[in-house]
Amino acid sequence: MNNVHLIDHPLVQHKLTLMRRKDASTNSFRRLLNELATLMTYEVTRDVPMQEVPIETPLETTTGRVIDGKKLVFISILRAGTGILDGMLAVVPGARVGHIGLYRDPQTLQPVEYYFKVPGHMEDRDVIIVDPMLATGNSAVAAVARIKQLHPRSIKFVCLLTCPEGIRAMQTAHPDVAIYTAAIDRQLNDHGYILPGLGDAGDRIFGTK
Ligand code: URA
Repeated sequence: MNNVHLIDHPLVQHKLTLMRRKDASTNSFRRLLNELATLMTYEVTRDVPMQEVPIETPLETTTGRVIDGKKLVFISILRAGTGILDGMLAVVPGARVGHIGLYRDPQTLQPVEYYFKVPGHMEDRDVIIVDPMLATGNSAVAAVARIKQLHPRSIKFVCLLTCPEGIRAMQTAHPDVAIYTAAIDRQLNDHGYILPGLGDAGDRIFGTK
């Protein structure tokens, strides 16, 4: 699959397995999600631009390389995407953060935007959109289309889990957007849940069920 990065590092897979278990508590689910998000950020940011800066070590002057964290924007698709942010910010504390809220219109079944707040000057920034589950792909496709209106330098999409249906939807609409995921599960069920999956990510993060 083009432009899909499966992060199959043993630590990522181990933590994902613990999260899938139905008896994982809200507390441990959230903690594991934080840790996973941190580990995934390492891979997702592998190619971010760097610049050289002069520095002084205790012994001499040299040149070091740094990223410009402020140019990175993590955009959470509400509400479950928020559960990923802390883990990402732990390793890129200077990143900017945006939020996009979408709900599904019961008549048209199409996503409708109810909240949108992102930093200014998006044309100078690299965007990483986050949502734990890329399932039908409807929200992700709409979120990417909305962000594209602001012409950022680049867009990536990060999820914990996806399935062939979600990947197909994203790649049909946005073949230029790389998808980073810890697993590609078997399929969607009739209610739009990923199988075997991990259930409702929002409910499991926030303990709302
Ligand atoms: N959203 C979830 O939270 N879980 C799924 O399996 C699919 C979409």
